[in-house]
Amino acid sequence: MHQPALQLPELQVVGMSDIVEHPGQERAAAFGAPFYTDYERMVAETQPDFVVVIVPHTIHAQVATTCLGMGINVLTEKPIALEVAEADAMIAAAKATNKKLGVVFQHRFRPEIRAAKAILTAGVLGNIQHVEMTAFWTRAASYYRLGAWRGTWRGEGGGVLLNQAIHHLDLLCFLAGQPDRVYAATPTRRHAIQTEDTAQAHLEWANGALGALHTSTAEGGPSERFQIVGTAGILEIGDQSIRHWRFAQDIDAHIQHAEPFARLEMIEEQVPLDASVQGNHVAVYQQYIAALRTGTPFTDGEQGRMALELADAMILSSQTHTAVTLPIDRAAFSALLSRLQSQA
Ligand SMILES: NC(=O)c1ccc[n+]([C@@H]2O[C@H](COP(=O)([O-])OP(=O)(O)OC[C@H]3O[C@@H](n4cnc5c(N)ncnc54)[C@H](O)[C@@H]3O)[C@@H](O)[C@H]2O)c1
Repeated sequence: MHQPALQLPELQVVGMSDIVEHPGQERAAAFGAPFYTDYERMVAETQPDFVVVIVPHTIHAQVATTCLGMGINVLTEKPIALEVAEADAMIAAAKATNKKLGVVFQHRFRPEIRAAKAILTAGVLGNIQHVEMTAFWTRAASYYRLGAWRGTWRGEGGGVLLNQAIHHLDLLCFLAGQPDRVYAATPTRRHAIQTEDTAQAHLEWANGALGALHTSTAEGGPSERFQIVGTAGILEIGDQSIRHWRFAQDIDAHIQHAEPFARLEMIEEQVPLDASVQGNHVAVYQQYIAALRTGTPFTDGEQGRMALELADAMILSSQTHTAVTLPIDRAAFSALLSRLQSQA
């Protein structure tokens, strides 16, 4: 996934690091870059403009804060960290060193997501009232056998929420804003893993909007179905599709003035899509490099933290059988995660 981005003409790979020499060495050689088993030594010797963190989630925070502390910008893979308290520390480290912490959420760049963002930013949908997200990235048992860290509390800090659906949680927060209150169930239903393979949540936003989210690696179904209902229209987004309906009149005007059983007329609008940028790592790198060069907006630490905080809130809610308010109680989640990790 990073390979095409690392070949961008504006980039030069000045070093690569992995604790495992093979195939780490071959990967570095393919880019004509020196190979290191110690990433701190690599950073100290090569003094790169930025470091890309593509290691297991458990050490995103450690590697990122170390590099930021060495005065180097960091672009980290998702999830930003294992738990939200670590993300806080990463964001604080970036602020303290005046460096840029970016997070890889490539789905934000999909043409239909960029079109949806433009419609929402322009206020065309009115006030958001209702959000529904269903996402299935089905995985076989063999997937979890690919790495001993997969599907474990120590290795991932969560299951489908931390690994696969973190992208969908990010899209939901990116387009509709981070929910303010969550009530969730996060069971392990079919896979022989420690963490959740399925999650369902009831979501509430401060403006009164309500939402539902369902995701699983243990069910079949369309990879993604996402609906946002506003006071002035509806957006329906799928994988590579988007439809937009505008209400003939705002829902409040309809409620106030229409006949008792009058239907609210919906007019479908064509949504132009710009395919010149796709939802891949090239787009993420290009946005991040532009931010380093000219200070343009990018998916920074605060943006990257939203999905993790929502995931942590869902796990906390499920484990305590209570509704959880965001921002979540960091200490309560840390204590819960430590308990789950020690029991596993
Ligand atoms: N954005 C996306 O769609 C996407 C897709 C796949 C993976 N990822 C993320 O990328 C990260 C890595 O996932 P993966 O599937 O490539 O895992 P992986 O296990 O295949 O590879 C991780 C690599 O990190 C190396 N490593 C471990 N500790 C290290 C250290 N201290 N210093 C240097 N190298 C170290 C390992 O030896 C291994 O080569 C995960 O956080 C994952 O969530 C993101």
